[in-house]
Amino acid sequence: MRVGLGVTGGIAAYKAAELLRLLQDRGLDVQVVMSAGARNFVTPLTFAALSGHKVISQVFGEGEQEPNVESAIEHIAVAQAIDALVIAPATANVIAKIAHGIADDFLTTLVLATKAPIIIAPAMNVDMWENAATQRNVEVLRTRGFKVIEPEEGYLACGMTGAGRLASVNTIAQAVFETLQVRDDLKGETILVTAGPTEEALDPVRYLTNRSSGKMGYALAEASQRRGAKVLLVSGPTRLQAPSGISVEFVRTTAEMAEAVFRHVDQATVVLMAAAVVDFAPTKVQTEKIKKQGGLLTVTLKPTLDILAEVARRRKPHQIIVGFAAETGQVLENAAAKLREKQLDLTVANDVTQPGAGFDSDTNIVTLVFPDGRTKPFEKMSKLDVAHLILNAVVELRSKLTPAVRE
Ligand code: CTP
Repeated sequence: MRVGLGVTGGIAAYKAAELLRLLQDRGLDVQVVMSAGARNFVTPLTFAALSGHKVISQVFGEGEQEPNVESAIEHIAVAQAIDALVIAPATANVIAKIAHGIADDFLTTLVLATKAPIIIAPAMNVDMWENAATQRNVEVLRTRGFKVIEPEEGYLACGMTGAGRLASVNTIAQAVFETLQVRDDLKGETILVTAGPTEEALDPVRYLTNRSSGKMGYALAEASQRRGAKVLLVSGPTRLQAPSGISVEFVRTTAEMAEAVFRHVDQATVVLMAAAVVDFAPTKVQTEKIKKQGGLLTVTLKPTLDILAEVARRRKPHQIIVGFAAETGQVLENAAAKLREKQLDLTVANDVTQPGAGFDSDTNIVTLVFPDGRTKPFEKMSKLDVAHLILNAVVELRSKLTPAVRE
């Protein structure tokens, strides 16, 4: 994950170097953007050396360099690449510019161009902070959804005492982690995730499959990684890019998926079976392409191996096993029946006929079904948010295992 770190011209600019380190410690890639004023306090070289990326300040390239197309559209590329933007320290001036939509340097242009969440940590003289104009501008940012980390009280560089000191870099880093849902509540866990569809061949050119995109499973893998788990992802064919830093094993058929899952499952403490496994395969795969001259074609299908049922059957006491139930009717009844029959710890039920739920959608509408009969329905939300809800339930289930079993 990538974070933009905006540094503006205040004495506290040097503290941004420490903040950068804290962000990096949690695996975040940091792109530093400095205002011209910030360069009077810290040199770009410091941030470039620490972050491993060149520091950006101006919209049309730096120094003597001729403006070029790359530099002219760089703010858009950075805006799209970052998952969050944190501005620390943020001066009264930059806060005022942002509140009014002014974009006269790279940082303020980036603020307008990005859809990523923005965190602002102001630092300034107490009178400037308490000035009605600054307070009004900060309020404007809050109502627009910016997270503002209040400055702290204390001795200020100008010799005065009062509110205006940059909040501690730990507090600021924590706000970034919360925004990005970077936690470590799954540290020490090994999570096996299945994703995407499988394919069952009919002849050398045709196969049976389903509409699964793999998005739910990939979101689970990504969310598990962000929360500190080691992730093993077994994926059927999808058009998705493999989440960075996660080892993915690609498979096509149900038998291949089963083989990969059984090879990894003993290491896993949590199994999340999000794959839409093809339930039926032709009894015979034709070696030659089936010709259409024959008219009506009858294909006999046989059930494939239920990987989830088999994983649950071989389960170790410390494993948490989560299944999915993609349904088109009687959703909760069917999900509860699957949970009972396959002896699962949790089933994630969804009605794939609802708009905004199921296969190719970026969102999902799910209900968590627990073995004690509890159900937790949720509103429509992104698949990444659904993934975090599922993982919250996993953390809760793991905490109920006795320590001896958990190990
Ligand atoms: N599953 C599996 N292997 C299969 C079929 C399903 O591991 N051959 C897993 C899926 O990954 C999912 C769960 O079982 O976690 C439910 O899959 P689903 O197809 O909805 O249910 P089935 O148990 O196959 O029942 P049915 O198709 O009758 O609804």
